[in-house]
Amino acid sequence: MQIPSAFTPPPRLLLGPGPSNVAPSVLRAMARPLVGHLDPAFVNMMEEIKAMLRAVFLTKNEMTFPVSGTGSAGMEFCFVNLIEPGDEVVIGVNGVFGMRMCDVAERCGARVTKVESPWGQIITPQQIADALKKVPKPKLVAIVHAETSTGALTPVEEISKLAHAAGALFLLDTVTSLGGCPVRIDDWQVDAVYSGTQKCLSCPPGLAPVSLNPRALEVATRRKTKVQSWYLDVNLLSSYWGQERVYHHTAPVTMNYGLHEVLRQVLEEGLENRWRRHEQNHLALKRGLAELGLRIVSQDGHQLWQLNAIGVPPGVDEAAVRKQLLADYNIEIGAGLGPLKGKIWRIGLMGEASTKENVETVVNALRKILRK
Ligand SMILES: Cc1ncc(COP(=O)(O)O)c(C=O)c1O
Repeated sequence: MQIPSAFTPPPRLLLGPGPSNVAPSVLRAMARPLVGHLDPAFVNMMEEIKAMLRAVFLTKNEMTFPVSGTGSAGMEFCFVNLIEPGDEVVIGVNGVFGMRMCDVAERCGARVTKVESPWGQIITPQQIADALKKVPKPKLVAIVHAETSTGALTPVEEISKLAHAAGALFLLDTVTSLGGCPVRIDDWQVDAVYSGTQKCLSCPPGLAPVSLNPRALEVATRRKTKVQSWYLDVNLLSSYWGQERVYHHTAPVTMNYGLHEVLRQVLEEGLENRWRRHEQNHLALKRGLAELGLRIVSQDGHQLWQLNAIGVPPGVDEAAVRKQLLADYNIEIGAGLGPLKGKIWRIGLMGEASTKENVETVVNALRKILRK
């Protein structure tokens, strides 16, 4: 075969639903020489990652670490460890990722009760309360905090209380919320949480930060059946990420360099400052879009700061606009999924990409394209 030349990526501005742009300092960190994954220097760095992840999740949970894999691996990690065949699970479904949770839970043998809202709307505590009345012994209630497919942020504090009152664990997907808006794992009494590196943390895709509180960990360690996944079994992973440092799998060394650097930067910026930055740039985008006659279509009062679902005006070719943004302006934005296909654009302002300049750039580009 003819060997292709080395890959040179085009200089894209990543304003889609993820991945987001990565800071040069993070890319530099990832280009540092490898050490062994059991090297004392790496082990020391793992401890720092765990401590920084606790600070970012706002939790004291000992069992907090990055699973090797993307956000979906974090989702599977939580379900395979907490669910045994026949368990009753209640899941909020208001977009793609709630649906994916149901699929994962069913593969674990769970009996799933779906609590559905129209795409773009939140899941309400009343809906969960109603569902819990019909489920005799719920083991778990699961919610997607920030639904990336629709741009809606579901408030979860009340839902967490309802889950606990019914004797269930509360599981939260924070793949898109972590680092971009308040996520308070201990205050909200979230028992199990997973996230991803590629959105508001602005690290490449490849790691899934997770955290289990002692209650969830007890459920995982006292199972009647073996965890169906060897790779994601917390009982095995804990001896690698815990004090024993027993070989389980070879951790992606370079990805962990990147995560270490990103977490340092998040904490240096400060969580509150970072959340405020995301809010301000979302509001600036909203104002800019309004001048173009465009509006955000997810539920008023619950719109994500980091992912904006924008209604496509009648008569405009949704895909053609995205194509032109990419071809002429090097800007990536996202399309609608499922029932929202062809009806919305998704503009992400996540992590590194959430800046005033990027807001102006994308609004100006849209103005020129739509004028034509
Ligand atoms: C809310 C949510 N959950 C889970 C995932 C899955 O993450 P990944 O694509 O990194 O596997 C995503 C990815 O977009 C997401 O937005």
